[in-house]
Amino acid sequence: MKVLVVGKGGREHAIITALAESPGEVEIYSFPGSDAIFELAKPVEADGVASLVSYMVEHGIDLCIAGEESYLVKDEGLANACEAAGIPCWGPPKESAQLEASKEFAKEFMMRHEIPTGGYASVNDIEAARAAVAGKYPTVLKFDGLAAGKGVAVCLDEAMAEEFLEEVLVQRKFGPGRLLVEEFLEGPEISIFASVVDNQYQILAPARDYKRIYDADEGPNTGGMGAVSSLEMFEGDLREVIDATIVKPTVEGLQKDDLPYRGFLYFGLMLTAEGPRVIEYNCRFGDPEAEAVLPLIQGDFANYVFSGAKGDLQPDLIRFSSGWSICLVSASAGYPASSRSGDVISGLDDVSGARVFHSGTRLNDAGQFETAGGRVLVVVAGGESRIEAVEKVYAESEKVSFDGMQRRTDIGTRNF
Ligand code: AMP
Ligand code: GLY
Repeated sequence: MKVLVVGKGGREHAIITALAESPGEVEIYSFPGSDAIFELAKPVEADGVASLVSYMVEHGIDLCIAGEESYLVKDEGLANACEAAGIPCWGPPKESAQLEASKEFAKEFMMRHEIPTGGYASVNDIEAARAAVAGKYPTVLKFDGLAAGKGVAVCLDEAMAEEFLEEVLVQRKFGPGRLLVEEFLEGPEISIFASVVDNQYQILAPARDYKRIYDADEGPNTGGMGAVSSLEMFEGDLREVIDATIVKPTVEGLQKDDLPYRGFLYFGLMLTAEGPRVIEYNCRFGDPEAEAVLPLIQGDFANYVFSGAKGDLQPDLIRFSSGWSICLVSASAGYPASSRSGDVISGLDDVSGARVFHSGTRLNDAGQFETAGGRVLVVVAGGESRIEAVEKVYAESEKVSFDGMQRRTDIGTRNF
C-alpha cells in the first residue's frame, strides 16, 4: 500500500510512525514533510493541491491522509481533488472542513442539531461587540477566520476585551471577518477524537492538552505544550454522555446537512457542571494529542485508515493499550511570540524506552538535528499508571536539550 501523508509536524511524524509499524508493506510518502519524517517516508515535490494530486496519480498512491487542516480548505480542497482523481482520502472535503475553518459555521451547525455549546452572538463592528458583551466578564471573543491560533481571547475584564476588539475589529489585525462573542464556560477541558466514516463512527482514546506556555497554565496560549491520554479518562458514564449528546448528533447532523465526512474529527469539550459543551471542532487529529494517543493504538492502523477512507469503518482493526501515555513538548526560545532556529539538539540518541517525534527540527550541514520552529520536539512515554508515565517522560526528556529550550514541569500532573 502506498500512503501519502500531508503535513510536517509532530502529529504527522506520529501518524507516519504508526503506519510504518503496521503489519504488511506500507510505502510512505510525505508532503511537505521534514528531515526526521524523511527517515521513514519519501519526500514529495508539489506546490499546491492540484500538483499534489497529480503526483499521487503519477505515483500510484493508494491513500492520502490529511494530517493538518490547511490543505483541506485550500484551492479546490485536498479531499475534493482526491475524490475527483479516484484516490481515497482520510480527511473531509472543503465544505465539511468549514466546521473547523469557520467558527460561525460550526456554531450554526451546533444550534441546528441541538449540540450543547456556549451561547454566542456574531458581530461585525466594535459597537455591536460591546453590546453583545454587555459588561459581563469573563467573556470569550473569537475571530471567525484563520488566525494561526491567535484568534481567541478569554477576557477577564473590560480592558482586555477592549484591547482585543480594537486589534480585531478596528485595526483588522487578522484581516476582514466577523467576531463571535461567546459565553464563558468553566470546567476541565477534554479532547475527544472520533474516526468518522459517513454514518459510522468510532470514539478513540481521549486526551487532555496543556495550551499555555508556562507551568500552572500561565502565560500565552500555544499550539500545546504536552498531552495526556488514557481510556481511564472516561470516568463513570462520561463516554456514554459525550457519545449520546455530542458525537452521535454531530455525525447525524453531517448526514442531514449532506456534509460528507471521512477522517478524524476532533471535539474540543469543556466538562461544565451542566454537562459537556463543545468549544470547537477540528477536522484532523490534535497536535500534540496525536503524539500521546497514537502510541496507544495496537493492530493494523494502516488498513484501518485505508478501509475507512474507502467507506468501510472497521473498528476491530485497532485496539487501545491500557494505562497512560504522556507527551512532553520542548519548545524553542521565544515561543510562542517568536521562535529561534539553528540551536543544535543534543542527547536524541540517549532516549530509550520513549519515543521522540519531531515538530520543528532540521538536519544541519554536520548531520545533526537542530531547532527549526516554535515547538521543536515531543517525547512520549507510557506507563500502567499516570504517575509512572509522568516519571518516565520527564526522565527521558531530561536527556535531550538545546539552547533556550522551554519545557513545562507539570504535564500529566496539573489538572488531575
Ligand atoms: P479554541 O481555539 O476555540 O479552541 O479556544 C482556545 C482555548 O480558549 C480553549 O482551549 C479554551 O481554553 C479557551 N476557550 C475557548 N472557548 C471558551 C469558552 N467558551 N469558555 C471558556 N474558555 C474558552
Ligand atoms: N492541541 C490543539 C490542537 O491541535 O488544536
